[in-house]
Amino acid sequence: MIPGAKDRLIFALDVDDFSTAEEWVKKLHKNVGMFKVGKQLFTRCGPDVVKMVQGYGGGVFLDLKYHDIPNTVAKAAVEACKLRVGIVNVHALGGAEMMRKAVAEVDTYCAVAEISRPLLLAVTILTSSTAETLREVGIDRPVEEMVVRLARLTQSAGFDGVVASPQEAALIRAACGADFAIVTPGVRPTFASLDDQKRVATPAEAIAAGATALVIGRPISTASDPLEAAGKILAEIEGALAS
Ligand code: C5P
Repeated sequence: MIPGAKDRLIFALDVDDFSTAEEWVKKLHKNVGMFKVGKQLFTRCGPDVVKMVQGYGGGVFLDLKYHDIPNTVAKAAVEACKLRVGIVNVHALGGAEMMRKAVAEVDTYCAVAEISRPLLLAVTILTSSTAETLREVGIDRPVEEMVVRLARLTQSAGFDGVVASPQEAALIRAACGADFAIVTPGVRPTFASLDDQKRVATPAEAIAAGATALVIGRPISTASDPLEAAGKILAEIEGALAS
């Protein structure tokens, strides 16, 4: 197994209660290195669910997409560091000052606590947004231009990477270089259905386009053997990394 391949597979814990979340982590942790805890599960269960995942050796992507005044986002990001999560994210539309302050306070906290800093990611433009959505809020630019612009802003603010659709990965990789992390949802292995995702890529395509890690939910959770489905995805990630 290529080192780190398992950590590139992030399972979306899109459930609303603690015991169901724990069942998934118990079932999948052999093949899945990281679990995404989003607004619904965190609002319901709080830090306990983060600790539960960590108790099984899993990493946590705390997907709360902070977007607020710089001081508030920085303080929230430091609280996330205290939970020892592996990834924290914000909205890049919160601006460079917001991101720079988060980096500064997270770095200071992690240095004092002697822990490695979580990966700091920003969402550029939500994939649910269209040119019309942007126009409504006064942004008269094409979505792709905004995605690249915000990815560059994220990088210049000292963040580690972005969350983006696989379709945007190649553009971002070209604009931000090899060391910038790109985490992509909207991934569908050939054995899975599309569900409500529209612009999808297979795991191999997403990695080839420059994705660093993949967020995958239903292709695993609705499979007849979820652990086996995760194993197949892992093998596909390893194959793409090796080629
Ligand atoms: O089940 P599925 O693989 O579609 O789950 C993808 C996960 O990634 C969900 O938690 C979804 O909310 C999240 N996500 C997404 N598209 C984005 C951002 C996040 O599907 N642009």
